[in-house]
Amino acid sequence: MAAPPSNEPANLKVIALDGPAASGKGTLARRLAAHYGFAYLDTGVLYRGVAWTMIKDGVDPADAAAAGRYAREFSLKKIEGAPIRSREVGAAASKVAAVPAVRAALLDFQRDFAANPPGGAAGAILDGRDIGTVVCPDARVKFFVTASPEARARRRWLELRDERPDLTEAAILQDIRERDARDADRKDAPMKPAADAELIDTTHLTIDAVEAAARSLIDGIFRRRRG
Ligand code: CDP
Repeated sequence: MAAPPSNEPANLKVIALDGPAASGKGTLARRLAAHYGFAYLDTGVLYRGVAWTMIKDGVDPADAAAAGRYAREFSLKKIEGAPIRSREVGAAASKVAAVPAVRAALLDFQRDFAANPPGGAAGAILDGRDIGTVVCPDARVKFFVTASPEARARRRWLELRDERPDLTEAAILQDIRERDARDADRKDAPMKPAADAELIDTTHLTIDAVEAAARSLIDGIFRRRRG
C-alpha cells in the first residue's frame, strides 16, 4: 500500500485551526479537544508570552532583535499565571509575531506538540494563524474560522468588560482591525486560509452550531482515511 502523503505518522490525527482574533477558534478548539480526547495548544499563548515578558522587562516589543532573543529563551514556565490576555499584550504579540526570528524560534515547540501530543493523546489540535499553512501543513483536518470584525469586537468586548469597563466596543474594533492588518500583511507566515482548509464563518452561528459543523466534517475525514 502507498504511504500516506504526510510526514506525520499515519495513525496521528492533527487538526489545524486558524483564524483572526475573537473568531471563536479557541472555544471551538477546546470543545473539539474535549470531544476527541486530543491535546490542545493555543499557539497565541507563545506570541503573547514573548510579548508579555518583554513588556515586563521594560523592553520595547517593536525591537525585532530583542524579540528574537526573548523568543529563543522562551518557555511556558516563565509565563505561568501571567496576565497575557490583556489588550496591550495582544497588540504587542502581533508585533513580535511579525519577526521571522521569533516565528523560527517557536516553530519546533509547536511541531513537536503536534507530533507527540502530551499525555499520550490520540491527536493534537493547534489553533493560531499559520497552523495549516506553515506549522502543520500535513494536518489531516484544517479549518479557517472567521467572523465579521464587528461580531468579533462585540465578543471580545463581552469577554473584557468586567475587567476593563473603560474599554469601548469601538476601541476594541479598532484594535481588531489593526491586528488583522498586521497579521495578514506580514511577509513571514501571514494569516491566510490554507488552500485545503474548510472555511467556517461564525458571524451568525452559535458555538453549538459551529461545533456540530466542524465535527461532521472531521468525522467524515477521519472515516474516509479509516481512523
Ligand atoms: O486570542 P486572539 O485571537 O486575540 O489572539 P491570539 O491567538 O492569542 O494571538 C495573538 C497574536 O499572536 C496574533 O494577533 C498574532 O499576531 C500572533 N499569532 C501568530 O502570529 N501566529 C500564531 N500561530 C498565533 C498567534
